[in-house]
Amino acid sequence: MVNIDQERLPKHIAIIMDGNGRWAKQRGKHRVFGHENGVNAVRAAVENSARLGIDFLTLYAFSTENWNRPKLEVQTLMKLLVASLRKELKTFIKNNIKLNAIGNIDALPQKAASELRDVIQKTASHTGMTLTLALSYGSREELKSAIQAISVKVKNNIISPDTIDEAIINSHLYTHDLPDVDLLIRTSGEHRISNFLLWQIAYAELYFIDVLWPDFSEQHLVEAIINYQNRERRFGKTSEQLS
Ligand code: FPP
Repeated sequence: MVNIDQERLPKHIAIIMDGNGRWAKQRGKHRVFGHENGVNAVRAAVENSARLGIDFLTLYAFSTENWNRPKLEVQTLMKLLVASLRKELKTFIKNNIKLNAIGNIDALPQKAASELRDVIQKTASHTGMTLTLALSYGSREELKSAIQAISVKVKNNIISPDTIDEAIINSHLYTHDLPDVDLLIRTSGEHRISNFLLWQIAYAELYFIDVLWPDFSEQHLVEAIINYQNRERRFGKTSEQLS
């Protein structure tokens, strides 16, 4: 069996957790049942990533577009979020995990936003893996807000247009304290990015797997990392330049 090379771990893994609805439908159940089971896969992915030595894990839990789903489904997702945060604080403490969130957190129901802020504050001093939940997140919205904030600084003569560089843009994104994504995983067989971290995945390796999110296991995560380690990341250079 091939093992993970501990020297070449992806520093930042991002996951588009897709397929909860189809998983439930295959079992003749309501979509909500899929999300409930998706939570177990979230817990496993978090614990396994921390144990494997991943520094940053970012999960697409709720997109700006997800607000358009049926009311019951949105309410269930928010309830699951609150219940999971309460329950998982122990896991975060045990594993030294720091919780972070990206997205329009103010758009979440008050209870969800305050629970989230509470767990973020309680885990702020942790030095292990940073777990980032993307909630009410949309990459275009993130870029639009960054452009607006930079424009205001230009207007007020705080920044001159010709000094705007990638670092300045980065510092105005929700992800300002995260490194670029190295490995992006999407489950369920869909080959789309769906408005997730468009700027941050510029050089990420993309990994698509047919498994539906509630079935995503430790073995699948390990396979994704090994697949990543077998690729040559050239960042625009030639193979010869790298060797
Ligand atoms: C995609 O499946 C999944 C989501 C929109 C939500 C992901 C949420 C969870 C896994 C549970 C709650 C999260 C946390 C962090 C506690 P889909 O519904 O789009 O599936 P489909 O494409 O088969 O319909």
